[in-house]
Amino acid sequence: MSFTKLFSIVSLLSVALCASAQSPPANRPTGGSICTTKPFLVETVLPPNLNDNGGTPFPNKTFATYPTYTALSVGVQNYTCGDAGTWAPAGAITYLYDISCLPLEHHKPFTSFIAGLWEAAPPSVTADDIVSWTESMSPGVALGIHYWVADPVNATSGKIFAKWDFGASERMTNDTHKDHAFLVASESSVVPDPFDPVFNSAWLVEPVLVVDGQKSGELADQVFRINSNGGQAPNTTCRPNFDFLQVKSTLDFLFYGGHWADTIF
Ligand SMILES: *[C@@H]1O[C@H](CO)[C@@H](O)[C@H](O)[C@H]1NC(C)=O
Ligand SMILES: *[C@@H]1O[C@H](CO)[C@@H](O)[C@H](O)[C@H]1NC(C)=O
Ligand SMILES: *[C@@H]1O[C@H](CO)[C@@H](O)[C@H](O)[C@H]1NC(C)=O
Ligand SMILES: *[C@@H]1O[C@H](CO)[C@@H](O)[C@H](O)[C@H]1NC(C)=O
Ligand SMILES: *[C@@H]1O[C@H](CO)[C@@H](O)[C@H](O)[C@H]1NC(C)=O
Repeated sequence: MSFTKLFSIVSLLSVALCASAQSPPANRPTGGSICTTKPFLVETVLPPNLNDNGGTPFPNKTFATYPTYTALSVGVQNYTCGDAGTWAPAGAITYLYDISCLPLEHHKPFTSFIAGLWEAAPPSVTADDIVSWTESMSPGVALGIHYWVADPVNATSGKIFAKWDFGASERMTNDTHKDHAFLVASESSVVPDPFDPVFNSAWLVEPVLVVDGQKSGELADQVFRINSNGGQAPNTTCRPNFDFLQVKSTLDFLFYGGHWADTIF
């Protein structure tokens, strides 16, 4: 079976799940999740050993609050070759899809399933292809794009920061605040993937970056990155300041707070 055919089956599956979900209230503001996120308590899906393997631990508490958005992220993480001849992270470019119509406990297996397809896709299939197929088969499911930007505080620091932008998504078409539907974040928690840390990216808590007292975007106040599949560089040597590598990555983001928090239903 061709990759495109297989992918379309998955997309139809998610549409079917959406169709069976509850519909939002008629007077709901634009721009929010497709389905309700109210039952989504992240502490119920964080493995109990999450903080046992080093790193900067996740907050040790119950959050008792709901994400405004839950997104599947499909794309690549970039690596450049550092001075030591080993791979150094250099940002990412990924595409984000609304998965609020799936129960939270299904996000991890669904994300692994998509990761399997993405990993198996031939090199001719790019992340952009996945976006166009997904949009044509499940209009409205594409939420936006995730990439990294230069340090907004200190242009010469050489640091990069994660950014998410939903401004061009179909859900924001009629939203008068869509120019603020982005977020630049730092990292407050970083722990190794609890299942396969050599292959899968770290799990993160990413609070919005505050510059001169101003939040860098209003999409969310805090993002959790969980359920990683792939994304880590291989343990190989490379030619310093010459080689470049892209590693496929499939994972989930949960976005908390932000301007659209009042769309949760
Ligand atoms: C986290 O909370 C649990 C239960 O309250 C407690 O036993 C544990 O020591 C706490 N761990 C840290 C690192 O604070
Ligand atoms: C990562 O690679 C993509 C695709 O080549 C590119 O568009 C993007 O700018 C790169 N990101 C960084 C931070 O280098
Ligand atoms: C900006 O980053 C550079 C390089 O790390 C550093 O030398 C400089 O002190 C930083 N400037 C500020 C204002 O933090
Ligand atoms: C935007 O508004 C137009 C006109 O009311 C409507 O036809 C369209 O469905 C809306 N689009 C979205 C994504 O809400
Ligand atoms: C990476 O490879 C080196 C040399 O082959 C080895 O010593 C090291 O343990 C490996 N690290 C990991 C994380 O596999």
